[in-house]
Amino acid sequence: ENDLESKLPLRGIKIMITAGPTYEAIDPVRFIGNHSSGKMGFDIAKSAAKLGAKVILISGPTNFDVQNTTINLIRVTSAQEMYEACHQYFNDIDVAICAAAVADYKPKVVADQKIKKSDAAFSIELEKTKDILASLGQIKQNQYLIGFALETENEIDNAKLKIQKKNLDLIVLNSLQDKGAGFGSATNKVTFIDKDFVIEPMPLKSKEAVAEDIINKVISRYQ
Ligand code: CTP
Ligand code: CA
Repeated sequence: ENDLESKLPLRGIKIMITAGPTYEAIDPVRFIGNHSSGKMGFDIAKSAAKLGAKVILISGPTNFDVQNTTINLIRVTSAQEMYEACHQYFNDIDVAICAAAVADYKPKVVADQKIKKSDAAFSIELEKTKDILASLGQIKQNQYLIGFALETENEIDNAKLKIQKKNLDLIVLNSLQDKGAGFGSATNKVTFIDKDFVIEPMPLKSKEAVAEDIINKVISRYQ
């Protein structure tokens, strides 16, 4: 191990990151999902690894891959699988960053054969998925817990409520109001709010730059 590596600010720190969407099965060929690409979470993982962290990246279905050997990529499909993977690693990590767009609801029953169409109207009964981030907030010891919030109204107040409800240390509020931010975009406009409700609006940036800002927040915790 060379001098450069020993000076990396996140050396010895384990970071768990969730990324991407989740797919909730309806039947063997259909699911409920969303347009999350996973880019934000993968960019955060890269930034963290570059600065010396050991990264566990738990991702729903995405086209992204990782080259970096210090990133342990665990692929999952459903919210339940993501929940189980997160709980498997949580006790062993220092920082958790939940950037996944987890489905809020899933079909109450999954048909074991392809559902055939008929002339009648058709509806699917949904039930809530587990809130992964909130479940980690409930059991956290010393872990630094970062969540995201996507809001379209009363952004700041709703994000503050999420900090409290989920017992977070920091929330990254995504502003959809600004053009070029959010799903499918290369850029993001975020506002950081910490557990003391200190609000820090950031300018529109590339997702790579937002990822670096988030990792800098983590670093400042260890200084
Ligand atoms: N989250 C999670 N598990 C869920 C739902 C959300 O871990 N089942 C996490 C997301 O990864 C994100 C944060 O919770 O870090 C906030 O997600 P968001 O969709 O903004 O909030 P919700 O709590 O789901 O509330 P709502 O969608 O009603 O605003
Ligand atoms: Ca949600």
